[in-house]
Amino acid sequence: MASVTLKKINKVFGHTHILHDIDLSIHDGEFVVFVGPSGCGKSTLLRLIAGLEEISSGDLDIGGQLVNELTPKERGVGMVFQSYALYPHLSVYDNIAFGLKLAKESGETVTARVENTARILHLEPLLHRKPKELSGGQRQRVAIGRAMAREPRILLFDEPLSNLDASLRVKMRTEIAKLHQRVKSTMVYVTHDQVEAMTLADKIVVLNAGRIEQVGSPFELYESPASLFVASFIGSPKMNLLPASLAAPDPYTSQVAVPGVGQVDVAVDSQHLDAGCTLTLGIRPEHLELEPASGGENCLEVVNVEYLGNESYVYIQHPDEDELLVARVPVPVRVRPGQLVRLLIKPELAYVFDADGRAVKRTVPAPEVSTVSHA
Ligand SMILES: Nc1ncnc2c1ncn2[C@@H]1O[C@H](COP(=O)(O)OP(=O)(O)O)[C@@H](O)[C@H]1O
Ligand SMILES: [Mg+2]
Repeated sequence: MASVTLKKINKVFGHTHILHDIDLSIHDGEFVVFVGPSGCGKSTLLRLIAGLEEISSGDLDIGGQLVNELTPKERGVGMVFQSYALYPHLSVYDNIAFGLKLAKESGETVTARVENTARILHLEPLLHRKPKELSGGQRQRVAIGRAMAREPRILLFDEPLSNLDASLRVKMRTEIAKLHQRVKSTMVYVTHDQVEAMTLADKIVVLNAGRIEQVGSPFELYESPASLFVASFIGSPKMNLLPASLAAPDPYTSQVAVPGVGQVDVAVDSQHLDAGCTLTLGIRPEHLELEPASGGENCLEVVNVEYLGNESYVYIQHPDEDELLVARVPVPVRVRPGQLVRLLIKPELAYVFDADGRAVKRTVPAPEVSTVSHA
């Protein structure tokens, strides 16, 4: 086990600057997830930590030691890839033992490590099978076992579940969470799937175009996104975002003018902003309350209602926006397609972002458990 510290890490491929001044601390035993859209630099950052890619500038520390010049083996990292790349002609046992034998570990060590790994990953009944005789989830467990058996100080995962179907992905997600609770080693996990990030991480690192956008616990990122990017990336369905402007700056409760919605009071400190400046108002689908209306100002039309069993999604057309607004409402739903509604937005549940997409500071603490009530 070990901590990892990245100080001003940069990566340049040819003339392309891929990673910019990455500063990050990963604690001993922590489960850290790098998340972001495809191409933002997640794999590159993981490969820099692994030693599979050279660091262009900056310092990488593992367990208090500068490791920039060390090989992957010397760094004590194990890596699990999206394509499990098991040796097809070798049994599960030999696949797991392969790296240990290559490292010239003694016969007893190899046996003990393979048995221990198989026990932790529930692979004991499968040790004599060949990869083609295994399911996708079992193969992925063998790939994890192969990385674990060498008892690395840090386990690195690059989208290890992307090749699995949706239900198996959910199952394997739980397996990986349980594995972390059992072995407690430092784990760094890359995914483009925000649900995987939210469910697995102690700490999420949101990357955007080669820069860290925000670092925080799942709760912090969901309740206090630092930017429009994080706000719209974390959470499904996405946070509703509406163009707005500041009607009256105030240190506690700011009046925001939202076309199509009206004047909304929001618990943010806007005293440093100018009246009339451009803003974006954000409201999570579970916080959007709908009030049936019969016409007049600020009425919006319900265009679709999706019934999901435990709840419904109500889609609403804003006259100036292409993207529909969405409200998550309990069943039974009281509105129908074609009906007019007004949006009710509670001051403490809305978000405001400035013209640069940075969050305007809230003046009430994020509620531990969000309250949802609907008209
Ligand atoms: N070996 C390489 N040479 C040049 N560009 C690369 C190389 N590897 C990755 N890139 C570029 O770096 C960017 C980040 O890639 P990557 O880290 O794989 O993103 P992610 O894993 O977030 O999808 C992409 O624009 C990609 O094209
Ligand atoms: Mg990748």
